[in-house]
Amino acid sequence: MKILICDKTETDAIERMRAAGLTVDTNFEITPEELSAVLPAYDGMVVRSRTKVRQSLIDVCPKLKVIVRGGVGLDTIDAEYARSKGITVMNTPKASSASVAELTIGYMFALARSIYKATATMKAEKWEKKAFEGDEIGGKTLGLIGIGNIGKEVAKRAAALGMSVLAYDPYVKTAEDVRLVSLDELLAQADYISLHLPKTKESQNMIDKAQFEKMKVGVRIVNCARGGIVNESALYEALTNGKVAGAALDVYGEEPPTDWKLAKLDTVICSPHIGAQTKEAQGRVAAEVADKLIEFSKK
Ligand SMILES: NC(=O)c1ccc[n+]([C@@H]2O[C@H](COP(=O)([O-])OP(=O)(O)OC[C@H]3O[C@@H](n4cnc5c(N)ncnc54)[C@H](O)[C@@H]3O)[C@@H](O)[C@H]2O)c1
Repeated sequence: MKILICDKTETDAIERMRAAGLTVDTNFEITPEELSAVLPAYDGMVVRSRTKVRQSLIDVCPKLKVIVRGGVGLDTIDAEYARSKGITVMNTPKASSASVAELTIGYMFALARSIYKATATMKAEKWEKKAFEGDEIGGKTLGLIGIGNIGKEVAKRAAALGMSVLAYDPYVKTAEDVRLVSLDELLAQADYISLHLPKTKESQNMIDKAQFEKMKVGVRIVNCARGGIVNESALYEALTNGKVAGAALDVYGEEPPTDWKLAKLDTVICSPHIGAQTKEAQGRVAAEVADKLIEFSKK
């Protein structure tokens, strides 16, 4: 089986695939135009979030049998269309959950103690001790929207930190460490709201002006899920009118953003979609990609 790996993948995993008899080529910088030209010769492809696999690409690759997404979200792949053409689409659902959960918890601490702002004043040689009275996250209420693999990892850690954890997930009936509630109850009670659901037609703009109005004054929002689930204009307004005290963002409606005004707000801390970007998660993602392709090739 001939496989093209289109996004950065660890060498050990690539070598393991080759040792198992797969022909593996890599081109981590491949452009969409180059991909349309070369992919028709391959049986399988590996992508991370950089490479998009749309219907038009699938249509020119009748030989393609398998697409493996190293990571969670399949929003970068026209997965249903690929499956309708008989192509197997796989991802690595749990490999990065712990890393995204740790970033989420880190962001809550950073918001509670203004770590970013305090660092910036020190670098500017200012000693503004009195400006940085924060609060503890222990004893506060965390509202998780989506309690799948990452939500569960966040809930476990938050409960251990003494937070009381609520979750809204209409597709889940029971979950440990959390009390399942309606979205309205979560919005009304949470001191921190963190999103851990996929971006779908249903979840797009799920947190908009009307939802911000239902939140506590001074709430803090963390989005390490997908941009566009929180309406960015409504978030900007809620941050500038003081309803939301702070937001931590790892994901954006457009990546990279074309409009940087949210990122530039003093009350926003942010990162360029690095939730899964740890050595451990990358290692687990690559290993799982290799396992899945090797298994697929034996069928
Ligand atoms: N920042 C990053 O680098 C990064 C890395 C990995 C995953 N993610 C994103 O994190 C999100 C969660 O990933 P996961 O691995 O926990 O996925 P998952 O599939 O394990 O869990 C998602 C949960 O969301 C729930 N859900 C679906 N629609 C919902 C809705 N409308 N309202 C409330 N809940 C809903 C599902 O029932 C499920 O329990 C995804 O969007 C994923 O793409 C981001």
